[in-house]
Amino acid sequence: CGIVGYVGPRGSVEVLLGGLKRLEYRGYDSAGVAVIDDQGALGTRKHAGKLRVLTDDLGATALADGGTGIGHTRWATHGGPTDENAHPHLGDGGQLALIHNGIIENFAPLKEELVARGHEFHSETDSEVAALLVGEAYRETGDLTAAMLHVVQRLEGAFTLLAVHAGQPGVVVGARRNSPLVIGLGDGENFLGSDVAAFVEHTHRAMEIGQDQLVTIRPDSVEVVGFDGVAVTPKTFEVDWDATAAEKGGWSSFMAKEISEEPEAIAKTILGRVSDGLVHVPELDALGDDVLRGIDRVLIIACGTAAYAGLVGKYAIEQWARVPVDVELAHEFRYRDPVLSTSTLVISVSQSGETMDTLMAVKFAREAGARTLSICNTQGATIPRESDAVIYTHAGPEVAVASTKAFVAQITAMYLFGLQLAQARATLDDETVRGLVAELQEVPEKLTKVLEVGDRIRELAHWMADTRSVLFLGRHVGYPVALEGALKLKELAYIHAEGFAAGELKHGPIALIEPGQVVFVIVPSPRDERSLHAKVVSNIQEIRARGARVIAIAEEGDVAVLPHADEVIRIPLASPFFEPLLAVVPLHIFGMELAAAKGLDVDQPRNLAKSVTVE
Ligand code: G6P
Repeated sequence: CGIVGYVGPRGSVEVLLGGLKRLEYRGYDSAGVAVIDDQGALGTRKHAGKLRVLTDDLGATALADGGTGIGHTRWATHGGPTDENAHPHLGDGGQLALIHNGIIENFAPLKEELVARGHEFHSETDSEVAALLVGEAYRETGDLTAAMLHVVQRLEGAFTLLAVHAGQPGVVVGARRNSPLVIGLGDGENFLGSDVAAFVEHTHRAMEIGQDQLVTIRPDSVEVVGFDGVAVTPKTFEVDWDATAAEKGGWSSFMAKEISEEPEAIAKTILGRVSDGLVHVPELDALGDDVLRGIDRVLIIACGTAAYAGLVGKYAIEQWARVPVDVELAHEFRYRDPVLSTSTLVISVSQSGETMDTLMAVKFAREAGARTLSICNTQGATIPRESDAVIYTHAGPEVAVASTKAFVAQITAMYLFGLQLAQARATLDDETVRGLVAELQEVPEKLTKVLEVGDRIRELAHWMADTRSVLFLGRHVGYPVALEGALKLKELAYIHAEGFAAGELKHGPIALIEPGQVVFVIVPSPRDERSLHAKVVSNIQEIRARGARVIAIAEEGDVAVLPHADEVIRIPLASPFFEPLLAVVPLHIFGMELAAAKGLDVDQPRNLAKSVTVE
């Protein structure tokens, strides 16, 4: 998740470690460096764990230093967090070192091809494929830039690649597709980084590198070409960060950064799991289609935000795959002697993969004979290891205690599962699945637009800084969104907040409404055929008549809601199932902004822990 490259007169080990330290905010589970020493020999060192493990090792036995090097912190995707899977990876008989961020989607066929040509693999990563391919291409061309250009044409997916070769000291080559990379311009030295934090302590002059472009840095030059080999003139800019901002990549908090990454979290979770417009999650092969066809019940277990993602999953899986689905809090499930059988699939949802309540529930389910699938954001965590299969959400590391981007990634994984299950059980025809998949793929772009409402929500939050209680109403998949909106407000702003199913209003909660009570309402689309829109609009009228102040989250063009709401936050048009992914983000922003308005630490709320490893 963090990338640094250096060429210049200094010893690169220190520059690389300093850069990786500044990129720590991005989160990682292993780290490594490769350096070409003054004799032109390539040396590497890499370890699972925190940077400390690597620096301690380098302190104990130094690496022969030199002015050309690359460094990497990794957040495991393909292959768990081990020393072998840490980057750099080697090619060309150990002459070339390469680091990679992102996912190479077509790594399986490329790996087969390399194995057939006699290559041996030392890791389980998709990245090693790139190292070996660039190594082969270097043998042919004798030039690192040419070799990289050749290989990037063959890679599909998202990647930033950096490579050095012992045969070309003083050169670092980087390539970028759908993954970040910037150039730092020094005096007689140059840098590369996943963001400017990597080099801001050395230079504030930087250069953008665009999509599908390749850069070659030497101490005195920077050359950028497109993947088509045509030279481009990149834009330079000045970095105006101070050192503190750099630690969070310029964001005011990890949470602000993570909310901004929600579109990417969804996109990356879909990546590599759609082929020919249909869903194929390779990890589900571990269960097999027969098992998917044979299950007669799905039980989703989780805690906190993850449980609300599960609730969204229930609506989707049940509708698409026609299997009964229940959602239960892991700690309740475990201790009530539930009925399970070998045809029950228990799906656990956990960002950390370490939540003890969820882990105990998974173990219990397994012992009771159920099949277990885990939806998890952390490679190599305990819960996926205890499960028959795992779908990793590729939201990237989540640092802020309250979950945001992992939530939308979990919902996305639920949808992928639901669609693949529907395919296996033939409960949806291919055309319907293709339509839904295409819509899901459009969500990240729509969500980028939703993020633009941030300023408006900040104003609302400031205006509401003294509010003592907020209610949230939603129906169908909007109901879990209401629960999540309320939870964020409790966690972050320490405000009493409750989420209700809008239909339940008249059965109790309406008694809470008094003049000035703020109520967020997630309004279903007016295009929805079940006429839920009209029902929710009449709920709004009922509470408005009793003095509530209504903030509606409604689809663009929904004018029916206008006369009844005090504020309307717009979300782009989407089919009902994809609305939660769009509607929840304004609520995440609201929770964060209200906490900020109250002067609270949004990343580390009181009394809470990111991963609760006690029951
Ligand atoms: C803790 C966190 C919550 C999180 C829950 C589940 O309580 O404070 O934000 O939703 O754990 O965590 P998990 O890692 O299992 O998703």
